[in-house]
Amino acid sequence: MSGVLIDILPDAAALAGSAAKTFLRLATVKPEALFTVALSGGSTPKALYAQLADEPYRSQVPWERIHFFWGDERHVPPDDEQSNFRMASEALLSKVPLPAENVHRIRGELNDANEAAEKYEHELKVFFGLSEGEFPVFDLVLLGIGEDGHTASLFPGTQALKETQRLCVANWVEKLATWRITLTLPVLNNAANVLFLVCGSSKEQVLKEVLSGSGNFPAQLVQPTHGRLCWIVDRAAAGKLEP
Ligand code: 6PG
Repeated sequence: MSGVLIDILPDAAALAGSAAKTFLRLATVKPEALFTVALSGGSTPKALYAQLADEPYRSQVPWERIHFFWGDERHVPPDDEQSNFRMASEALLSKVPLPAENVHRIRGELNDANEAAEKYEHELKVFFGLSEGEFPVFDLVLLGIGEDGHTASLFPGTQALKETQRLCVANWVEKLATWRITLTLPVLNNAANVLFLVCGSSKEQVLKEVLSGSGNFPAQLVQPTHGRLCWIVDRAAAGKLEP
């Protein structure tokens, strides 16, 4: 992938440190402006969230100007152990001086995942003041990657991959036999900065195929139209990358 920045760190802790530094830099580029970030779920970002909740970041990050969204959410209540909101809330949001109105949760608790997606989409349109057909420009979108090459809840072979108009959709994931709610590719690709965090040897093969372009994975469809794409990975995940 040309024009893509790849930062290889020794281990997961160093990866989290590099991501925290990047987060702070991006959040303070425009001193007075709001900063909008779409968080990723799963386990990798936990270490980043923990670092941001601690010094030296806790006292430097302008929390009052930051609005937190999610790139995707499981179809579960916010207190469920599967909830991406719960993970971020426990690791970060509950530990920093963040106004409640700065947290924009996907309502995974709603019985109808489509309704959850519609409500979230409406919240995005209102917050970003979007006109019809317009996509939000997130200052930062954090993403991870699964061994199957999914990112957010855009899994291989699922309907959401084909979405070109909606901002957020409910996506049936057959392999998990569950609904997910996810931002769509047009939104991810409209971000100012997209940051993939990838760690662990289990991601070695998929990372090699995605970055070499030899694979055919959803993560490869994340190609920001005007923003910057950066991969922060640890050495264990980078084992098969060409020097
Ligand atoms: C989710 C995430 C998902 C995640 C990858 C990697 O809801 O699970 O949004 O896209 O980033 O599955 O997860 P790990 O970081 O746990 O490997």
